[in-house]
Amino acid sequence: MQPEFTAIAHPNIAFIKYWGNRDDALRLPLNGSISMNLSGMETRTTVQFDQALVQDHFELNGETQSGPGLQRVSDFLDHVRRLASSNHFARVSSSNNFPTGAGIASSASAFAALALAASKAAGLDLNQKDLSRLARLGSGSACRSIPDGFVEWLPGEDDASSYAVSIASKDHWDLVDAIAVVSQGHKPVGSSAGHKLAHTSPLNAQRVLDAPERIRNCREALLGRDFARFAEVVELDSNYMHAVMRTSNPPLVYWESATEVLLWQVWQWRKEGHAVCATVDAGPNVHVLALKSELEWLQKALWELPGVKNVLTGEPAEGARLAV
Ligand code: PMV
Repeated sequence: MQPEFTAIAHPNIAFIKYWGNRDDALRLPLNGSISMNLSGMETRTTVQFDQALVQDHFELNGETQSGPGLQRVSDFLDHVRRLASSNHFARVSSSNNFPTGAGIASSASAFAALALAASKAAGLDLNQKDLSRLARLGSGSACRSIPDGFVEWLPGEDDASSYAVSIASKDHWDLVDAIAVVSQGHKPVGSSAGHKLAHTSPLNAQRVLDAPERIRNCREALLGRDFARFAEVVELDSNYMHAVMRTSNPPLVYWESATEVLLWQVWQWRKEGHAVCATVDAGPNVHVLALKSELEWLQKALWELPGVKNVLTGEPAEGARLAV
């Protein structure tokens, strides 16, 4: 039996979104993206390789997994085994401190924590770039949960050049993400299947073409702590991605009526002078990004809106790390 390792990673919220791959197997994205790791929510994963095992074993929140859940973990461990030239199976035990199926994407924190714990457990000592590349193979957005704070995923052209880097530490800017949860169910179309539809939208080519401009705008707004400029590009990018989704074949519509009400309300608040803006991932929940000074009234106000079942908050967080 080899030593076990435990790693912790946070989910992240994308300011400039990743949608669509140029290579589905390697998860090479069509465009670069920018995100922030979210404190308060985390995945903790322990991995141990054991030559006595006849297959991989995966437990999530105390329950043994089989079927597609186990398969996805096992496929990921194959990448680790290839890198470590090993043929041993592993015991993987993972838990989220936020409810699975609460409408918060857990695949980013899951594969970032698994990449770190599994590579260590296999005797590898990967640098941050190679860890990010490895995490990307499990879930694209997971590569952004490896570095600290505010992160940019450089899309690259091949496996070696597609990875994420930190562009500012978690202490750079007092931003918060207040997540208005309107649906706790699992999404009808997961993001892996969704990415494959991006190419079917007539708007997709244009979205990809001018992504570098939005990346530049967002990076500059973030580094200069310019909330007005940040808000504009974040909302444009989210709406652009949802326009691509809606015009795909078949169409993907993730928003619910409560999503629309929330987005409208956030725009009103900003018109009234509040430093708030909104972004939506592959689901109906609305991430309200705000300066921390807005958080107190914002949380109360979100709870009062129709259809809001929960409000979770995250602040900028560090990247993936080993548990001590
Ligand atoms: O990493 P995936 O395959 O779960 O894709 C994430 C897609 C979005 O959340 C919609 C956007 C993003 O950049 O996180």
